[in-house]
Amino acid sequence: MRTLDSPWTLGGHPLPNRLVLAPLAGIGNWFVRLQARRYGAGLAVSEMVSSFGVKHGDARTHREFLRIHPDEHPVSIQLFGHDPDVMRAAAATVAEAGADLIDLNMGCPVRKVCKTGAGASLLDDPDLAVAIARGAREGSGLPVTVKLRSGQRPGERTGAHLARRLVEEAGVAGISFHPRHASQQHKGRPDYALAAELVEALDAPVMISGGIADEERALEAFERTGAAAVMLARGSLGNPWRFERLLGRRAETPTPGEVVEELHWVIDRAEEHLGVERAGRYLRKFYPWYADTLGLSKGQREALVTAPTTAAARAAAEGLATPSGDALAVATL
Ligand SMILES: Cc1cc2nc3c(=O)[nH]c(=O)nc-3n(C[C@H](O)[C@H](O)[C@H](O)COP(=O)(O)O)c2cc1C
Repeated sequence: MRTLDSPWTLGGHPLPNRLVLAPLAGIGNWFVRLQARRYGAGLAVSEMVSSFGVKHGDARTHREFLRIHPDEHPVSIQLFGHDPDVMRAAAATVAEAGADLIDLNMGCPVRKVCKTGAGASLLDDPDLAVAIARGAREGSGLPVTVKLRSGQRPGERTGAHLARRLVEEAGVAGISFHPRHASQQHKGRPDYALAAELVEALDAPVMISGGIADEERALEAFERTGAAAVMLARGSLGNPWRFERLLGRRAETPTPGEVVEELHWVIDRAEEHLGVERAGRYLRKFYPWYADTLGLSKGQREALVTAPTTAAARAAAEGLATPSGDALAVATL
């Protein structure tokens, strides 16, 4: 029987299990990826990074987006863009920065990205998509994977067709498949039957993404699609314990003390990454995830989710941890 904790190989990299942290824009930096790895994820993919930003040597892109922690290998950096030559150069820089794999974004439905010809708009331009993937592979010498969707609009299967061409013509090592249409954004039921067809037809491993909100859904997606691995996205936010639970390494939900301790770890790492002031602003989107994991009511979470600074967030978090670590009910995972 296939299990989530069994090893596999992606682009020549041995991976210890079938759990992958999905790319998450504005979120999947080195410490979020490192966190996922600490809790057992076999592979973590970065937030999407502009190939143009990388090629044109934007200092912040390099310092922040291409930062890789020594303990997070193997790591995949996701690039987006619409120009094969720019992608080739950017991929070379990503390889120099120490990435083990490159993932290409051909699924992002956001207008700002699509109107440049990148992201999901590549589903409608398979020749260009193949040239971009080839450029990334040749430029970096690394295995390249591509994350894509079923199509732009309901009823389309352009993503599945493109996946085949990417593997056959561009030598792509694997496909991350999010079987929702770009027009659905991140809502609606993912089409796992279509994903199962792709798994069957493709001569490369498929990682399934979409709708993996909890452990039950992760197992359902893994079993129903036959995919090589499952990608945790929104379901992992503020809840790295899901990786441990899916790997059978723990049964119980985290205590409030554990959640608060983890939140301190996140705040420390964010300060290290961005400096105290920027970290305070950046982390505002993170706090509600931890408040959800703690199962806090509106009143209980107020001080944390409105914390204007990291110091205020630390103080609010302290108020939530109890010496015994069990006074608050932690949300069911
Ligand atoms: C806030 C957010 C940011 C995302 N950023 C990216 C990204 O940078 N690259 C990408 O390929 N997909 C991105 N996605 C899509 C996710 O990787 C994933 O495919 C999607 O959330 C579906 O999985 P889920 O339903 O389990 O959350 C993003 C999704 C969300 C919610």
